[in-house]
Amino acid sequence: MSVGSENLAYALTQVVHNFGAAAVLGAAVFALWPDFRAESARRFAWLILLGWGAQIASGAVFGLTSYYYYGATPDLSSLALAALAVKVAAATSAFLLVAVYLVRGRDWARARVRLGFQVLAALAATALTAAAFLRWFS
Ligand code: HEM
Repeated sequence: MSVGSENLAYALTQVVHNFGAAAVLGAAVFALWPDFRAESARRFAWLILLGWGAQIASGAVFGLTSYYYYGATPDLSSLALAALAVKVAAATSAFLLVAVYLVRGRDWARARVRLGFQVLAALAATALTAAAFLRWFS
């Protein structure tokens, strides 16, 4: 395979990953600020679910792409591995949280829904911070 196809695979995966990152943080913050938009919370939640799903899928595709071109996943430093573990944990818990809200949250109190979005925003900020460490310590 040419270097071109490899770079293209990484670049296209990164497009999805970048927009997913923008969506998970942006949608949670926008739902909360400047005022909590309780009436649109479910629509924001769908966008956030899609965003976390895109992060998990494109993150996995990053790993698979490396495996396909190199026959191995990258040899990460322990700090980079920890940053990756933080991202995976944040993504898994956020995806579950927003899914639980969509399935069960119809009669949650406003304050509870607001807290849920605050946790989602915090998980997105944590994952984005971990991404920087993964990038520069790998
Ligand atoms: C299952 C979850 C995830 C996996 C497996 C994953 C995996 C990866 C990988 C392999 C890279 C390339 C790293 C590099 O260039 O050295 C990357 C980059 C990135 N990820 Fe993730 N990721 C996940 C979740 C997330 C989440 C939840 C966010 C943000 C909310 C995020 C934000 C980013 C950003 C911004 C970059 C680009 C960093 C840069 O090159 O400057 N990722 N991710």
